[in-house]
Amino acid sequence: MTRPVKTNTGSEVPAGTGTVFESLKARIEKRSARIAVIGLGYVGLPLGVEFARSGFRVTGIDTEREKIERVNRGDSYIRDVSSEELKREVRAGRLEATDDFSKLFEMDCVSICVPTPLRKTRDPDVSSIISATKEIAKYLHSGELVVLESTTYPGTTDELILPMLEETGLKVGIDFFLGFSPERVDPGNKRFMTRNIPKVVGGVTAKCIEVAVALYKCSMSSVVPVSSTKVAEMVKLLENTFRSVNIGLVNEIALMCDKMKIDVWEVIEAAASKPFGFMPFYPGPGLGGHCIPIDPFYLSWKAKLSGFEARFIELAGQVNSSMPYHVVKKVGEALNSVCKSINGSRVLLLGVAYKADVDDARESPALDIYQMLTALGAEASYCDPYIPEIRTDNLRIKAKPLTPDLLEKADCVVITTAHSIFDYKLIASKAKLIFDSRNVFKGIRSDKIWRL
Ligand SMILES: NC(=O)c1ccc[n+]([C@@H]2O[C@H](COP(=O)([O-])OP(=O)(O)OC[C@H]3O[C@@H](n4cnc5c(N)ncnc54)[C@H](O)[C@@H]3O)[C@@H](O)[C@H]2O)c1
Repeated sequence: MTRPVKTNTGSEVPAGTGTVFESLKARIEKRSARIAVIGLGYVGLPLGVEFARSGFRVTGIDTEREKIERVNRGDSYIRDVSSEELKREVRAGRLEATDDFSKLFEMDCVSICVPTPLRKTRDPDVSSIISATKEIAKYLHSGELVVLESTTYPGTTDELILPMLEETGLKVGIDFFLGFSPERVDPGNKRFMTRNIPKVVGGVTAKCIEVAVALYKCSMSSVVPVSSTKVAEMVKLLENTFRSVNIGLVNEIALMCDKMKIDVWEVIEAAASKPFGFMPFYPGPGLGGHCIPIDPFYLSWKAKLSGFEARFIELAGQVNSSMPYHVVKKVGEALNSVCKSINGSRVLLLGVAYKADVDDARESPALDIYQMLTALGAEASYCDPYIPEIRTDNLRIKAKPLTPDLLEKADCVVITTAHSIFDYKLIASKAKLIFDSRNVFKGIRSDKIWRL
């Protein structure tokens, strides 16, 4: 028995009527529905594996040949998906990858997991969503469910995707079903993964919500239906804006504490002892990754179109993006204390991934720090076992192995990412001067260790 669901317009509609709808729901519940996942990156590959694990036949579609070949070989390129589990699904015939969009014609459900970056002007770049939707529209057929999972501004599903799909002559809620379900995965998190993070699901009509809920219930531990796609889109942006603003606040407190000569880390630790009304966030060298530095600007862009200025988002963005400059300034002060300048010094960055224990350097503040130090004349280098190479402008820089000799030769070692694989005892004993932007040397008092 399914309860009535509220539609985008607020009216209550009894769910569960119509043969197209019923037969799609039945195929989903029997796991005989075929699922396509478009975009096999950090989000799409784990999602495809989850659907396959729960018994569906899944086809991953990507434009990158190398990813397709690796999936089909069962060779994972995403740290959160092991090659063993990928191989198991591929060998069982439940998962395959292709760049052939005509396969969409055979699919019952399609999940869109393509990137949503920002343009240089900080406007949303939804070109991958548009090109994926064009392909879906080409092969759209009666009895199909389409769900957007990419993070994007509220209104994308209703205002951008829906008209493109209805141009085919098929009608949403009757012939096909359309929803939005934000992906909330946190790469590197061992406790919460795709399958056990509650799945928020919104749809264009009540039937869209119901059929999308039916799909995710098969693979996710819990599903949270919401009344519309806009609410579902906004949920994700609230979550990421919450993080960006709180990190911005704590970064500002860190800059304040630096001026006032107060240890910000000790302040946060003591404040976190309050059992209610406080949640610790930590300062750092700046925001990174494909979500927190980007998503809030999708929201502020859309809010601006409605005549609303999102002040917190802009302010947090300013504070957070000033952090790499602050780190470079402090590295300069640390070197100055031993009568050296940035110009001509060997500066070794430890970690260029945007956060600890992940292999993703997108938007990483360490890249800005590297470039700024180099521009100031430093001889910069980096160690990161997860990022063998970084590219800045026209340069390709290779990671160095972390050795006692490398540490001894550096004039300053900067902890930019707190990878747990680093040997911090070795670092503390061999480095002449350390700037610790992550508080990995918590509790260790030494003149050679400078903290953010
Ligand atoms: N990475 C995260 O931690 C995370 C977490 C939650 C949500 N998200 C959101 O999920 C979405 C995907 O992010 P991601 O990190 O997986 O990106 P990604 O870059 O790792 O993967 C995207 C994949 O899509 C492919 N692709 C691009 N355009 C395509 C097209 N037109 N057709 C088919 N394939 C195409 C790319 O080749 C790539 O393999 C983004 O909107 C992101 O904001 C990401």
